Amino acid sequence: MSLGTTAVAPPRSGLSPRRRGLTATSPFLRAAAGDRPERVPVWFMRQAGRVLPEYRALRATTAMLDSCRNAEMVTEITLQPVRRFRPDAAIFFSDIVLPLAAVGVDVDIVAGVGPVVAHPIRARADLDVLRPLQPDDVQYVSTAVGMLIRELGETPLIGFAGAPFTLASYLIEGGPSRSHTRTKALMYSDPELWHDLLGRLAEITTGFLRVQVDAGADAVQLFDSWAGALNEEDYLRYVAPHSARVLAAFADDGVPRIHFGVNTGQLLGAMGAAGADVVGVDWRVPLDEAALRVGGDRAVQGNLDPATVFAPADVLAEKVRDVCRRGAAAPGHIFNFGHGVLPESDPGVLAHIVDLVHEF
Ligand code: CP3
Repeated sequence: MSLGTTAVAPPRSGLSPRRRGLTATSPFLRAAAGDRPERVPVWFMRQAGRVLPEYRALRATTAMLDSCRNAEMVTEITLQPVRRFRPDAAIFFSDIVLPLAAVGVDVDIVAGVGPVVAHPIRARADLDVLRPLQPDDVQYVSTAVGMLIRELGETPLIGFAGAPFTLASYLIEGGPSRSHTRTKALMYSDPELWHDLLGRLAEITTGFLRVQVDAGADAVQLFDSWAGALNEEDYLRYVAPHSARVLAAFADDGVPRIHFGVNTGQLLGAMGAAGADVVGVDWRVPLDEAALRVGGDRAVQGNLDPATVFAPADVLAEKVRDVCRRGAAAPGHIFNFGHGVLPESDPGVLAHIVDLVHEF
């Protein structure tokens, strides 16, 4: 593998020649556009990571965020699952809190825990650190995307970022939370501070996605992993306008926008309406039902329960086929799990799922 060190010149406007070709031929990009390619495209959230021994070996002595700042490591880790599973898309190796760290937030990723924020947001003065992200803050991201699209050939690259609500939850709680209590308390008690915070996060997220798209990412996924903690009314009032601003910033780039959350059965319509081309669905709502809730006019992504990898082979195969059958109810379907790959999964089973989906 040849790994250069300089970024390719970003396409400033319109579609790059590479992307124009891929848009017509790649099953992933065709399905995202609402088409029915010759095979159902498949990739896995968290396909890079602890499930792969080669990842664990490479990461052994490097902290998570440091590995995200090393373009050679990012490139290698992004490619590892592509070599193993031959999925229909690669996802850029990084983390949703990386852009927060890049603007100066004191945040680290603690193994087995997740993001931990040293000074959680409690008052207006705590927002000062949240300045807009400049491309120079994450030069290594442009470099890695440039290296990746050269290595990936016909396999599209998905760029991603955390949505404002999910980032806000980490910043306000100080770490992972089940109930998002402090987050909701701030949202209800100080809406002005809340909207200022989410507005700043929307700007940082847009900046982080902009760097990836300008360097050549073929699609973007906005992870609002914890939005499912909200009912539709609160989601629409406190969250959707900010996520919509992020998604709208990429309306003219020709890159499909995937909008994903967990436990969001009640929000699927709203998450589509926020400006997504593809709505990500967890395993709790069957895809045909999800397609109806989304409104019948956009593609869906999902939604095998990630724990199905531990089921007997015949049960697994039937569940994979069931997801494919139900996904056919939507204008386009990208196969995925309903949430990230579980670290205890057998990589051989993941490769087998790719084959099962492609045989469907
Ligand atoms: O393969 C991929 O999907 C690309 C890489 C990716 C990572 N994080 C790498 C990672 C992506 C897309 C993310 C997004 C992310 N990060 C989300 C949204 C997706 C989701 O799961 O809902 C969230 C909520 C985070 C925050 C975060 N970062 C958590 C909860 C954790 C897990 C902590 C743990 O150890 O259990 C991380 C760390 C992280 N991000 C790892 C990886 C591969 C594990 C780091 C390690 O190897 O120890």
